[in-house]
Amino acid sequence: MGKWGTGLGSTPEAQEVQVRFAPPGSRVHAVPTGRKKGVWTARRTALIRPPLAWTPPRCPSFALCGGCALQELRLDAQRVAKDAYGRSLVEDGLRRGGRDLSVSVRVHAPRGIASPYEYRNKVELSFGPSRFLREEALRRGEPIEGRFLGFHAPGRYDRVVDVDRCHLVGESLNRLLAVTRAVALSEDAPSPYDPRDHSGFWRHLVLRRGMATGQTLAVLHTAPADERGVAAAARWGEAVRAADLGASTLAGALWVENAGLADVVRGEVREVWGRDWFEEQVLGRTFRLSATSFFQTSTAGAELLYRTVGEALGEGGGTLLDLYCGVGTIGLVLADRFDRVLGVEERAEAVADAQANAERNGVDWAEWRAGRVEDVLDLLQTEGALRAIVVDPPRPGLHPRVAEHLSQAVAEVLVYVACNPASLGRDAAVLMEGGWRLTDLWTVDLFPQTGHVEMVGRFSR
Ligand SMILES: C[S@@+](CC[C@H](N)C(=O)[O-])C[C@H]1O[C@@H](n2cnc3c(N)ncnc32)[C@H](O)[C@@H]1O
Repeated sequence: MGKWGTGLGSTPEAQEVQVRFAPPGSRVHAVPTGRKKGVWTARRTALIRPPLAWTPPRCPSFALCGGCALQELRLDAQRVAKDAYGRSLVEDGLRRGGRDLSVSVRVHAPRGIASPYEYRNKVELSFGPSRFLREEALRRGEPIEGRFLGFHAPGRYDRVVDVDRCHLVGESLNRLLAVTRAVALSEDAPSPYDPRDHSGFWRHLVLRRGMATGQTLAVLHTAPADERGVAAAARWGEAVRAADLGASTLAGALWVENAGLADVVRGEVREVWGRDWFEEQVLGRTFRLSATSFFQTSTAGAELLYRTVGEALGEGGGTLLDLYCGVGTIGLVLADRFDRVLGVEERAEAVADAQANAERNGVDWAEWRAGRVEDVLDLLQTEGALRAIVVDPPRPGLHPRVAEHLSQAVAEVLVYVACNPASLGRDAAVLMEGGWRLTDLWTVDLFPQTGHVEMVGRFSR
């Protein structure tokens, strides 16, 4: 398996080739689409021999929308593939830094969440006037232009894969999707936004749900509205409030106007029906989340990941430094073990959320600092000896100054949470240079069906 769950293989002439939607262990027929850094990329046209652990994909948009590349592989086999891929990236990074995955590292069996589908607490969809179709559908003459709501096809900002349900989210969010489709895609409604000429009204739909609380939030993004748009958005608000969400409840519906040209989900809130926030619970802590708050999109995955971090940290006491802390989730779920928690996060809104979440959960021994980790190293210096450090950086990993600083940090244990194992491998080599020893490595599958690989590394002095 390669990046984002692509299949890695070779041509009959033994040339390396990367194919989307070619599950590990399969043999596919593919046509070349290009060559990058000496590796061919190709598009699968037929599955000649399925892998041993083949299973039928649940989603009719499989291989169109690009989101769930591993759906044809049984969950146990997905985990084995992710684990092997993740470890190979860590090993590459270490090797480049002159290190290796020494025999003294305990490589734990891959772990993952129980539900293969319906685990996401958030889905983000785009409206559009052009859809992406399979070749067979194009040959049948099915029209491309119309009114659509779904996911952007890989690499196609101007085409939407029209979906009437997403199997990664549960029933209540799919019902909100159905209600929105009924209102926004009808013939008498304003037309969807067209990113090619910036005309049209409906832009994005973001649906969120607290998996433990059942509270949902629906957020509609449109272009600035004229009279017709105001009426259409109001109709959407009414329909969403009237929707039958089963055991879930609607915390609120928001209408956001976005005058920008870029295809990003942002803008000014124009109307709120109900609340503009909802709650989620993770390992006994309650989090208040606004429409834009960052939160792990797999709640069960977050629980498993934070449990793994807890296992890696071992016994508590002293200060826990939670770097790249977001809304404070890791520090807060593990706060009971420590005398003090200090979180650092770049986004001021997330820090405000972390503060509010600490108060909400009665954790008055946690402090939060807004700033880039690389810019507050002086502050970390004044902390003196620490019991434990957790880092959970974005995909590029640690800033070189941070890696260098942490390599010299005096603490008993450092836990690295990596959404990009390649960054973990590269940064691990720097940490080891400073005397840290990589003792344990876990692959945690937060996002079944997707190529996402999350890893946790434990370092000790
Ligand atoms: C992978 S998220 C982790 C969030 C949190 N630990 C959690 O589990 O929800 C990475 C976080 O790092 C923040 N971030 C990105 N670059 C940063 C930097 N240079 N300094 C501090 N925070 C940064 C992002 O805003 C984001 O909240």
